[in-house]
Amino acid sequence: MSTTENRGQFGSKLGFILSAAGSAVGLGNIWKFPGKAYNCGGGAFLLVYIIMVALIGTTVMMAEFTVGRNAHKNALGSFRAISQKWGFAGGLGVLTGFIILCYYCQVGGWTMKYIYAYIAEAKMVYADPTAYFLGMLGANGFPLQGAVIFPLIFLFLTAFILSHGTAGIEKMSKVLMPLLFVLLIGLMIRSCTLPGADAGLKYMLNVDFSTINSNAILVALGQAFFSLSLGMGIMVTYASYLSDEDNLISNTGIVCVLDTLVALFAGFMIIPAVFATGIDPGMGGGFAFATLAGVFEAIPGGTLFGLLFYFLLFFAAVTSSTSIMEGTIAFLIEEKGLKRNHALLGTSVVVFIIGVFYTLSQVYMNIKGIWVSKNGIEYPIFGDFLEYLTDRLLLPLGALFSVICVGWVWSPEKSVEEATSHGRFKFSLAPVYKFMVKIVDPIAIGVIIVAGLVF
Ligand code: PHE
Repeated sequence: MSTTENRGQFGSKLGFILSAAGSAVGLGNIWKFPGKAYNCGGGAFLLVYIIMVALIGTTVMMAEFTVGRNAHKNALGSFRAISQKWGFAGGLGVLTGFIILCYYCQVGGWTMKYIYAYIAEAKMVYADPTAYFLGMLGANGFPLQGAVIFPLIFLFLTAFILSHGTAGIEKMSKVLMPLLFVLLIGLMIRSCTLPGADAGLKYMLNVDFSTINSNAILVALGQAFFSLSLGMGIMVTYASYLSDEDNLISNTGIVCVLDTLVALFAGFMIIPAVFATGIDPGMGGGFAFATLAGVFEAIPGGTLFGLLFYFLLFFAAVTSSTSIMEGTIAFLIEEKGLKRNHALLGTSVVVFIIGVFYTLSQVYMNIKGIWVSKNGIEYPIFGDFLEYLTDRLLLPLGALFSVICVGWVWSPEKSVEEATSHGRFKFSLAPVYKFMVKIVDPIAIGVIIVAGLVF
């Protein structure tokens, strides 16, 4: 008998992979990753990141997939199905997702602002890409478009899509995800062949071990969890819609490889352009917006490419933001008894209000003298705080709870049983997985969290 009766299921195997990959591939890959790689040592960071994904990311994803498909319930319910006491692991994920959503929808709004920019005023972007970007954030007065109008449209769209279910996203993903891939590769090649790009390439390929410190490792781990959508129950929820015929082992591999490839392509698209164009908007977050203008200006039909690029970045953001918001909504509906549309409305309002401060804190509030640190350095304090809290603490903590729950409360054997659909699929790395999920992952994640708090 199928335990998935009365619950939705993905239309096809490809539908699940694309939806899981759609959640994973997002602003994290294109907006966050290149800036972190740039700030944390280039090639050395890439190496650390790949190791983190290969060892810890894949095993945490597998653990979350098995928890979800075993119970066929939302994140909270799936953890509770293992042990009543472990519901909090799902609850923490809901909180983390909510915080991420606050800034994610702001940056999602920025992608829409840039779609508008490449349609209506590309010349202004080209004239001074950094000034244009900072202007959007409030360098020349209250950022009505960057903080309010476009983020509001983005948030509305996310909620609107969720009010209709996610079937449309599955269909759109099938067309747009491959397109994003092709476009990224094309732009990466162009960026790497710009005059002056070789310094950037060297930076990204040269592994300088002296730059690997506890900070770089922590950033890489937090980024890996963020990028793979781990540590907040999203993958638990997605896998809960799968049937026993689906192969969790190959799905884990495919989603991790796809997500990492997109991040690497984005890194090799943006960093060489940073070196070639000399644009440094002062923070990693500006790269995906300001730096690429140099590439678009340099290629024939570049404005059209720019438009297409931000359109796809927007799309990657929406397929992620819907997955993040679904976590909060499912919780409010299933655990708090709210109606779907009420949950969507309430969540959107609060997310919007907190989110506005995220964008305002990037530039505007610093100029206004609010939240400027004492020694006069202008930090986007509130914005940084939200990202710190989620990437450094809450996501790793969520992942830690997942592996402890699977490794010690449930059992690695049962998790492997679920992963192989009770022996139906071959899992030659099962002994490694069991060892990782029970011993290595909890220790490594625990140590990294503590190191991050202490240092
Ligand atoms: N993985 C998404 C990205 O890279 C963001 C995300 C985080 C989505 C956590 C769901 C859960 O942009």
